[in-house]
Amino acid sequence: METTPENDNLTSSAVGQSGPVGSGVDSSAPMLLSLRDITKSFGAVQALQHVDLDIPAGQVTALIGDNGAGKSTLIKTVSGIWAPTSGSMYWQGQEVHVHTPRDATHLGIATVYQDLALCDNLDIVQNMYLGREDTKVGLLDEISMELATTKTLKDLSVSTVKSVRQLVGSLSGGQRQAVAVARAVMRESKLVILDEPTAALGVSQTAQVLDLIKTLSSHGIAVLVISHNLNDVFSVADRIAVMYLGTLVSHGPIANYDRNSAVEMITTGKSDRVAALAASN
Ligand SMILES: Nc1ncnc2c1ncn2[C@@H]1O[C@H](COP(=O)(O)OP(=O)(O)O)[C@@H](O)[C@H]1O
Ligand SMILES: [Mg+2]
Repeated sequence: METTPENDNLTSSAVGQSGPVGSGVDSSAPMLLSLRDITKSFGAVQALQHVDLDIPAGQVTALIGDNGAGKSTLIKTVSGIWAPTSGSMYWQGQEVHVHTPRDATHLGIATVYQDLALCDNLDIVQNMYLGREDTKVGLLDEISMELATTKTLKDLSVSTVKSVRQLVGSLSGGQRQAVAVARAVMRESKLVILDEPTAALGVSQTAQVLDLIKTLSSHGIAVLVISHNLNDVFSVADRIAVMYLGTLVSHGPIANYDRNSAVEMITTGKSDRVAALAASN
C-alpha cells in the first residue's frame, strides 16, 4: 500500500468519471473503490481484461456473469490474493497497491469466501476473534468479547442466534453466513465482499442473508456481492456489474436493468435494452 505525490491531486478523469457508458455514478463524489484498466493473466488465459469498476460507499453492487467470466478473479484481485498483471486501484481517491490479504484488511476490505472459513468446533465468540493479529484484542477478557459479539450481531439485526456460546457447527447455513459477515464487520470494514452468500441456502435463510446485506449498506458499508440468483440481485442490489469473458461489459444503477437485459448481458455480453433503459433514466 502506498501513495505517490501525484495521487494527492487526482483529476476527475483519473477516478470517478471514466466508467463505462451508463455507469450513472455521480462523478463529483469520490468512490470508495475504483478499478482502472485492471488486467489479470494466468499464462495464456486473460481472466480480466481492462476492467473499470466504481464501488460507491453504502451501496450494494451485485457482480454477475457466467461461470468463467472472471468474477472470482476480480474479487481475489481486490482482496490481495492475486496481484493484477496491470492496471490501477484507487481507495477513497488515492492510488493503492494491494499485494496481500493483509493490505486489503488494513484498507477495510473484508472478503467472505464461499467456504466461510469458520471453525465448527469453536463457538461464535471464538470464531469472531479467530486469527486477529491485533494483540490488544487478544488481551480482552471473555466477557468483553462476548458483549462485543452480541452487540455486532444485534447491530446486524441477527436475531435467530440463541447464544453466542453456541458451537458454529450447530448453526444453520444462514446463521453461519451471518457469523462470517459479523466477523468481517467487527474488523471495521468499509467494503464487504461476499462470494455467492446464498448459493447453499433455503428460502428463509436466503431472506435473512439478504436482510443482512441491506443492514450492512444502511450502516454505510459498501457491499460487493457475487450472485447467480437474479431474484436475490434484484431484491438487494443498488447497482449491477456484469462480467463477460473477462471483460466488465456493463455497470450501473439497478434501474438500468431488468431481468431480461441482465440475462442477455450475462449470456451475450451486450444488450440494447440496457442502453435504452440507461438513456431513459
Ligand atoms: N488460478 C488460476 N489459474 C489459471 N487460470 C485461472 C485461475 N483462476 C481462474 N482462472 C481462469 O480465469 C477465468 C476466470 O475464472 P473465474 O474468475 O474463476 O470465473 P468466475 O468466478 O466468473 O466463474 C477462467 O477461464 C478460469 O479458468
Ligand atoms: Mg467464481
